[in-house]
Amino acid sequence: MAVYCIRAVNKQSAITGTLWYLSKGRLYALCVTVFIVSFCLVAHVLYMRYLNDSTLCLESYHDDEPINVDTLREKIKLPQTKRRLPQCLIIGVRKGGTRALLEFLNIHSMIQRSTDEIHFFDNERKYNMGLEWYRQQMPYSFADQITVEKSPAYFITEGAPERIRAMNESIRLLLIVREPVTRLISDYSQLAANKAKKDKFIRPFQDLVFREDGTVNTDYRAVRVSMYSLYIKMWLSVFQRDQILIINGDRMIRDPYPEIYKTEQFLGLEHRIGRENFFYNKTKGFYCVRNYTVDKCLNESKGRKHPPIDPEIISKLRQFYAPFNREFYNLVRQDFGWPED
Ligand code: A3P
Repeated sequence: MAVYCIRAVNKQSAITGTLWYLSKGRLYALCVTVFIVSFCLVAHVLYMRYLNDSTLCLESYHDDEPINVDTLREKIKLPQTKRRLPQCLIIGVRKGGTRALLEFLNIHSMIQRSTDEIHFFDNERKYNMGLEWYRQQMPYSFADQITVEKSPAYFITEGAPERIRAMNESIRLLLIVREPVTRLISDYSQLAANKAKKDKFIRPFQDLVFREDGTVNTDYRAVRVSMYSLYIKMWLSVFQRDQILIINGDRMIRDPYPEIYKTEQFLGLEHRIGRENFFYNKTKGFYCVRNYTVDKCLNESKGRKHPPIDPEIISKLRQFYAPFNREFYNLVRQDFGWPED
C-alpha cells in the first residue's frame, strides 16, 4: 500500500503534486492512516450487517433454538449497567404468545429482557443455585430500566408464586392466555414437531386428549394446562389481582398494538411502542417487529400450521373447558368470551 502511494506521488498530477512536498515519512504515515480508517469502516459495516442478519431469528431459548446474537448482546456490559433481578415476569401460559409478548415489549428502551427462559422458579436444581445465580442470568440494565424474564412453566408450577414473592413481593406479572382449545392444539403441534425432529411419531390428537371411555383425559398435561382456573387460584392466593396483567393472546395475534399499549401502562412506562413498530407479514401470517435498524419476525417454531381437527372434537373440548373458563373469568374479573361449543 505504501509503495503504491509513493509511486503515485511520482506522477505529478494535481493531487500528487501536493503530496510531492510531503516528506517520505509523512506520506507513509498518511497511507497507513488511510488504510486503517478504510479497514475499520469496512469492518463496521460488515459487523452491522451480521448483527441485523442474526437478529432475524428471535428465538434462542433452551428447548427450541440455538443461542443467537441477542443473547450475546445481553453479555455486553455498558458503563453504569449491572445485572438485576427481574421486576417483571411473563409467567405463561405455554403457547399463549409469550415469546411474541416478550419480543414486542423489548422494543421499549426501558425494557431489558432475558432472551432465554431461565426456569428458575420451576426447576429444583436451578432454584437451589440461589438468587445470586438467577441474577447472573439476567441481562445488564440501567437503574431505571425494567428487567423481564419469561418462563411459561411458572404458571403451572406449584410453589412458584411463593418463591417469586420471596424474591420480590411487589413484582409485576404478565399472563398471556389463548382460547383453551386453540392453545391445546398449538401445544400438541409443538410436541408433534419436537418428536418429528427426533424421527419419532406422536399419537393422534384424539387418542391423547380422550380416554377410551370418551371422557377428556385430564392426565394429559397439554389438556390440563388449558384449565386456567386451576392455576390462577394459586397465584391469586399469593399476589394481589392488580399485580397480574392478563393479556388476550388471540387479540394480540390479530392486532398487537392495543395489548402492548395496555402492558406499557401496567408497567408504568411511557408509551413508546407505536403502531409503526408492527407490520403484518403475509408470508408468515403474523405481525412482525419494526424498529430503527431491522424488521424481525418470530422464527418458524412460532405460528406453526395446526393439524386439521374434527369440528366435533373441538366442540366436545369447548364444552369441557366451559365451566373452567367461567370460573377463570370470575376469579380474574375479566370475561374472554371463549366459545362454549
Ligand atoms: P402457534 O405456533 O401454535 O401458532 P409461545 O411463544 O408462548 O410458545 O406461543 C406461541 C404462539 O404465539 C404461536 O402459536 C402463535 O400463534 C402465537 N403468536 C402470537 N403472536 C405471534 C407473532 N407475532 N408471530 C408468531 N407467533 C405469534
